[in-house]
Amino acid sequence: MAATVTEPSQLEAPVLSGTDHVELYVGNARQAAYHYRNAFGFDVIAYAGPETGVRDRASYVLQQGKVRLVLTAPLQPEGAIAEHVALHGDGVKSIALRTADAAAAYRAATARGARGVQEPARVEDEHGVLTFASVATYGDTVHTFVERDEYAGVHWPGYREDARVGGGVGLRFIDHTVGNVEKGRMDDWVSFYSEVFGFNVFQEFDEKDIATQYSALRSKVTRDPNTMITFPINEPYVGIKRSQIQEYLDYYRGSGVQHIALHTDDIVSTIGDMKQRGVEFLTAPDAYYDALGPRADGIDEDLDRLRALNILLDRDDDGYLLQIFTRPVADRPTLFFEVIQRKGCKGFGKGNFKALFEAIEREQAARGNL
Ligand code: FE2
Repeated sequence: MAATVTEPSQLEAPVLSGTDHVELYVGNARQAAYHYRNAFGFDVIAYAGPETGVRDRASYVLQQGKVRLVLTAPLQPEGAIAEHVALHGDGVKSIALRTADAAAAYRAATARGARGVQEPARVEDEHGVLTFASVATYGDTVHTFVERDEYAGVHWPGYREDARVGGGVGLRFIDHTVGNVEKGRMDDWVSFYSEVFGFNVFQEFDEKDIATQYSALRSKVTRDPNTMITFPINEPYVGIKRSQIQEYLDYYRGSGVQHIALHTDDIVSTIGDMKQRGVEFLTAPDAYYDALGPRADGIDEDLDRLRALNILLDRDDDGYLLQIFTRPVADRPTLFFEVIQRKGCKGFGKGNFKALFEAIEREQAARGNL
């Protein structure tokens, strides 16, 4: 008898075609939706809750460019959503990934070492069928595989269409989504993305690159072979004082998403708009701009305008990038957003880490956590 046995680990990695959406569990989704609509310019495009027959939660779907956020709040103290919010505060529950075959992606991911959270399930309404499944990643965060080729509705069966315009500030797509994990666990999670998802590890910095006087971190970047999904992973490195990553871990009560970087084609306009709408960003000292020197040579933007908006600049051999970081979006010093514009540079602002961390540490010190 010549049975051919395929080892599960030989299954090809899940085939992914980008980020479908990011779902946050929050304490008050209605107010969060108001915030992301009015401050970040997102359109509210769909809603699910008691009015649509959902009893335990309210969810708002927000869209700008290709960026889709789902904000979900519990309607009762029992259950996974309320527990998540109680433990972590507002934070990212799911980074949902688009695929042409959610069941195959789930089989492949679990065979290659991921823990299954939700078996493949089909949901349907008058707009068609959507199939999804999910697997665990760091902390309580999951990746949901979303197969929506047969679904023509605006988001998901059970949601009703909404059309509240946010106006947009030029945010186009997710550039990268960063996870913070416990000290000593970065390499495990980098291996997870490499072994389970077939991602490449293509750049890395260590404590020497990203050290300030007091605290530091280590970071590696993982990216899918089609270069549409980028997940840097950070871990704290112990300096004289508490690492900003450790502060995150302490307040989030474990690993989770640290920041979501949103791409714009015109950061000066985007940030001008966002500031007018009330978004608070980390500031960079004047000394940062004075010290830029030749790094600022030949840029298209007016350096004084960048300085006025606190936009940071970094370079590599291929070009430069402009970036800025919001303050944490809720009261716990956990999740924040980055806005980034790339002009050739493929990095993540390594040259800005020191300037940025000094700015973060000023805030950390103000909270008494440094
Ligand atoms: Fe980033």
